[in-house]
Amino acid sequence: MAELINGKEIAASVREQVRLEALELKKNTGVVPGLAVILVGDDPASKIYVGNKKKACLEAGFNSFEHILPAETSQQELLELIAKLNEDKSVHGILCQLPLPKHIDERTVIAAISPSKDVDAFHPINVGKIMIGDYDFLPCTPAGIMELIHSTGVSVSGKKCTVVGRSNIVGKPMAMLLLHENGTVTVCHSKTKDLAAECRGADILVAAVGKAKLITADMVKEGAVVIDVGMNRDENGKLCGDVDFENVSKKASYITPVPGGVGPMTIAMLMRNTLTAAKLFAKL
Ligand code: GUN
Repeated sequence: MAELINGKEIAASVREQVRLEALELKKNTGVVPGLAVILVGDDPASKIYVGNKKKACLEAGFNSFEHILPAETSQQELLELIAKLNEDKSVHGILCQLPLPKHIDERTVIAAISPSKDVDAFHPINVGKIMIGDYDFLPCTPAGIMELIHSTGVSVSGKKCTVVGRSNIVGKPMAMLLLHENGTVTVCHSKTKDLAAECRGADILVAAVGKAKLITADMVKEGAVVIDVGMNRDENGKLCGDVDFENVSKKASYITPVPGGVGPMTIAMLMRNTLTAAKLFAKL
């Protein structure tokens, strides 16, 4: 039976560490980390995520600036707001919640955020810096997953790592972070010929596709570390991941639950990135 990786607990400890460092920063420099979160439209899931980010900011002693804009907001209006936030000295991190309404081009918006305030690490400059291993920020979900893997004591070096999913937010940067720690990395996607075989070869398996219970026990190596990034509803409307937890947990050595695994880590890493941005600002 696999040991559970308790993301809630690990995230709470990261957030407490961030809170203490923020206190120290304020004492030494007078700088209070500030995070601006922009939400365009009223997607219910996004509203919950944005609310959680505000709560995390307040608990960390950060300033939180929320910008909730109507779905009809034009791209130009959004770009003007970002330009203002780029100049605002009390704002150290800017996050524009994705997805954006269809009439707004996500790439244009991401590229408009100052790279030094890009706490999502989505800006092409930050993506490039991650690629060469010289970065200030790591994208929150993959960075949180690395913390979860470290918590198991299992070393990535030399291990076969399979990432299922190739999104810019999770799959691609995840592969890069595992590579930085000397994993031998395979990235699978919808055109992969034999997904089960690729997964079965993995010592560390990261599932980030958004398909309920896609990863079944026959696809998992005995003793593998299994990380589930999925956040789906099963046939009964119950929250579930991309992994068939009930059966895979009998085979894995460590596994993340959904909820309470990767999810809480994403916000914790966002707080850490915002603190990093504030520290970089304080040195200017
Ligand atoms: N939507 C889903 N995940 C994310 C994230 O990590 N950052 C942003 N900005 N939007 C998201």
